[in-house]
Amino acid sequence: MKEGDLSLRLAFDVGGSFVKAGLVHIESGLVMGETLRRPTPAGAAPESVLELLVAMARDLPSSGPVGLAFPAVAKQGVAWTAANIDKRWIGMNVQGHMQARLQRPVAFLNDADAAGIAEMKLGAGRDRPGTVMVITLGTGIGTALFVDGRLLPNTELGHLEVRGKEAEHRASGKVRADLDLDWVEWAAAVNEVLEAYHSLLWPDVFVIGGGVTENWQHFGSLLSSRAEIVPAAFGNDAGIVGAAMAAVQLGR
Ligand code: BGC
Repeated sequence: MKEGDLSLRLAFDVGGSFVKAGLVHIESGLVMGETLRRPTPAGAAPESVLELLVAMARDLPSSGPVGLAFPAVAKQGVAWTAANIDKRWIGMNVQGHMQARLQRPVAFLNDADAAGIAEMKLGAGRDRPGTVMVITLGTGIGTALFVDGRLLPNTELGHLEVRGKEAEHRASGKVRADLDLDWVEWAAAVNEVLEAYHSLLWPDVFVIGGGVTENWQHFGSLLSSRAEIVPAAFGNDAGIVGAAMAAVQLGR
């Protein structure tokens, strides 16, 4: 693999628990070599996360635009929210900071939107018309909404209140681990959230992603909705793959 290989894009996915990075082959969506995975620095403080990203970029020599998927509302390079990360990110021009540090163009977008882009382009949502809702069940709940393949960005429906509690405080992957829920208990919580989404948006299909999809065999058959439910094809790599695809939009 050459450093100047233009078919590869460096991409990051910052999560509340882990930061992932990889070199993504843009035509196939495959991560070349290993996906690097490092624990998110305590509290996800901006300075430590930015330093970690620069260090990870050094470990994955590459050139050209970089993709950065981030767990916040992302508009014009700026983070507008911070649910599971340090509040000091709010109002920061993250794209500008990363471009200055890496000396490369950076595509900055919401993590669930990134995962959704990957799934719609090459994964479980490929060639799916109508309304597709991609949901990531991780530290929080991320949502990405597509109509006939077109994204409505920053939907943030993990914060929708379901029976007096935010969806992500009921049914995220973290809630399952923290409360030590069994698959049946947790799937019931996810089903309640899916029903709340369905009653408002009537998607044709839910694509379920996030690290927890590694355990699809334990809970997939317990999920139910009036919409079709399918597992994400890219699993935990969807964020970096979609961020790499967003970086492609920035050209070479
Ligand atoms: C954040 C979203 C993010 C989701 C998944 C939520 O808490 O508000 O921006 O997409 O977690 O990481």
